[in-house]
Amino acid sequence: MSFLDNIKLADEYVQHVLDGRKPAVGIVLGSGLDRLADEIEDPLVLPYKRIPGFPVSTAIGHKGNFIFGKLGGKTVVAMQGRIHYYEGYGMNQVTLPIRVMKMMGIEYLFVSNAAGGTNPDYKVGDLMIIRDHINMMPNPLIGPNLEEFGPRFPDMTRPYDPGLIRLAETIASEMGLTLRKGVYIACSGPTYETPAEYKFFRTIGGDAVGMSTVPEVIVARHSSIPVFGMSVITDVAHDAEDENYVIDGEKVVKAANAAADKMTALFKEMITRL
Ligand code: HPA
Repeated sequence: MSFLDNIKLADEYVQHVLDGRKPAVGIVLGSGLDRLADEIEDPLVLPYKRIPGFPVSTAIGHKGNFIFGKLGGKTVVAMQGRIHYYEGYGMNQVTLPIRVMKMMGIEYLFVSNAAGGTNPDYKVGDLMIIRDHINMMPNPLIGPNLEEFGPRFPDMTRPYDPGLIRLAETIASEMGLTLRKGVYIACSGPTYETPAEYKFFRTIGGDAVGMSTVPEVIVARHSSIPVFGMSVITDVAHDAEDENYVIDGEKVVKAANAAADKMTALFKEMITRL
């Protein structure tokens, strides 16, 4: 079966479940950030494992559901749990949910993640608007181009929508919420970075580093979906001098949980005003 057939098969099943509902906004919820799903009214939960050909998320802090419903007066679809490259899935699998959300007709994609701060000004709990990215993972568009979705050589001049960034900044200042704005670097993981790697990522222009998001953003941009991205800083670059420092998945999820309410409030208000 071709990848396009795989997408169509998954879409067919999802359309049957949606029964005429048409989500306008797709939301990808990162590690420890799935609380936003609780805000969705009249939720319809569709576990990924019920969808033909769909990968299942196994990562810590990730459930594996599409949640359909209303948020900020709009029909939305949220991914409660995403698929990561480090889980062993190929890039087509990692980004299949984005293709399927495109088939559902989403007009905007909101993505979120937990990330390590490489910018020395950043603190645990900070929220960062992703204004650009550096991809250190394989490109998810490698392979035959899906002409139905977009061009062979997609433009990446504005991976994150300037209008959505302005909207976030306006709302944040009204809410009295301080936001960072920076460059996200995507690595495969599953290791966290060495001190030398954090320093390298800072040197090449990164403000935060994580193990996700960019494959989904590239696939969304391939089919011209405007994207808004946000990182929650769950840990910050450390140096080898600190002999007691450790970072682990539990700490990351805990820090993300602590910041999830702020991000949820921001996303909800942004979606209200779309
Ligand atoms: N590095 C990579 N991925 C992450 C980090 C980090 O420091 N924190 C949360 N996800």
